[in-house]
Parts: sequence; C-alpha cells; structure tokens
Amino acid sequence: MYTLQLVNRDYPLASHFVPSHLTQDKQSRIWVCKVALKAFRALNKGLEKKGLSSLFLISGYRPYAYQERLFERKKQVFLKQGLDDKAAYNKASQIIAPPGCSEHQLGLAIDVATWSMKDLEDPLIISFGETKEGCWLQNYAPYYGFILRYPLDKTTITGVSYEPWHYRYVGKEHALTMQKRQFTLEEYTNFLKKESF
Ligand code: DAL
Ligand code: ZN
Repeated sequence: MYTLQLVNRDYPLASHFVPSHLTQDKQSRIWVCKVALKAFRALNKGLEKKGLSSLFLISGYRPYAYQERLFERKKQVFLKQGLDDKAAYNKASQIIAPPGCSEHQLGLAIDVATWSMKDLEDPLIISFGETKEGCWLQNYAPYYGFILRYPLDKTTITGVSYEPWHYRYVGKEHALTMQKRQFTLEEYTNFLKKESF
C-alpha cells in the first residue's frame, strides 16, 4: 500500500518518481500529498485545542534533483573536514538521505517547526523534541496518522540520526499500531511481510 511504502537506502525510489495528488500548503508554499496535508491540518487543530502552537511546514515533497543537491552539500561538509569519499557519503547519509532514498520524494514526509522557531536560520533543531509541541507530537501524532520516523533509540535500525521534526504519514490505524508496538517503518513493514505468510 502506497501510504506504507518504505523508502530508505535499501529501498530507493526511481529518479523520475513523482507522487500523484501533490497539493500546495498556502501558508508555507510547501507541496505534499493531499492525504498528508489534510491530516497535518487536523493535527494543527488538535494542538490549538490544547492551547499549543500550531506547526509550520518547513519541508514536504522534495524532487530527486533537489535531494541530490542537499545531499551533495552535506557530503562536501564532511569532505572538507578531511573524511574520504566513502566516509563522507556514510556520514552525510545519516543526516540527509542520498537522492532517491528520501521519503520526502514520496510526498508523505513533513518537517515541522513551531511558529516561533520557523524563522530561525536552521529551524530544524534537536531541541524541538523537548518543546511542549514536540512532546505532544510524539504522543498524539499517531492519532492523526503520523509517526516520528527517526526516533532516538532506533538509529541503528533506520540508519538516520534522531529527527524530532520529521514525521511520516502512514494513516491512523497503522500509526497507532506502530506506536503501541514501538515499531519503526522498517520493523513494521518487515512484521507485515512475515504476517502475510
Ligand atoms: N533527513 C531525512 C533522512 C531525509 O533527507 O529524507
Ligand atoms: Zn525530513
């Protein structure tokens, strides 16, 4: 099922893959799949109801070529620090997925910040996870169909550093099951494969 599609270094997307049903968020001008934008709006309403700040989209759908530029830029940082090509590639991969390997290309991943953080030079910071909004998200995002995609205690499974701002739309039912069982998408899709035999 498309909303459960696993995208990572082992399961890349073709360079020409572009999701259907992309739609643009008016506030941020960010593009995401319609189903994810609808869920994001509901999630913001949930936050507001609790008296918390609604969230701003910093990133959503990213075309292959854009991901390629982001990845190269990160890799260059590590090359300049003296790492060899392979080491720089591996280190950059833990932060920015190589082109084709980002679920941002799938259109179902979002990076979020609070309104007060959105204008920072780098609004995607680890401390977001400790804000009231970041904590609320970790507990309640699954009720809106989103999962924290790169948790702190699962970096060896995801291959990606902790990203408290990156949420992935999988749908409410799957998200709640994943939360209950503490599954990453890698673990959950593997579990579903075994279950179907
Ligand atoms: N930062 C995540 C891993 C991405 O680039 O998709
Ligand atoms: Zn992201």
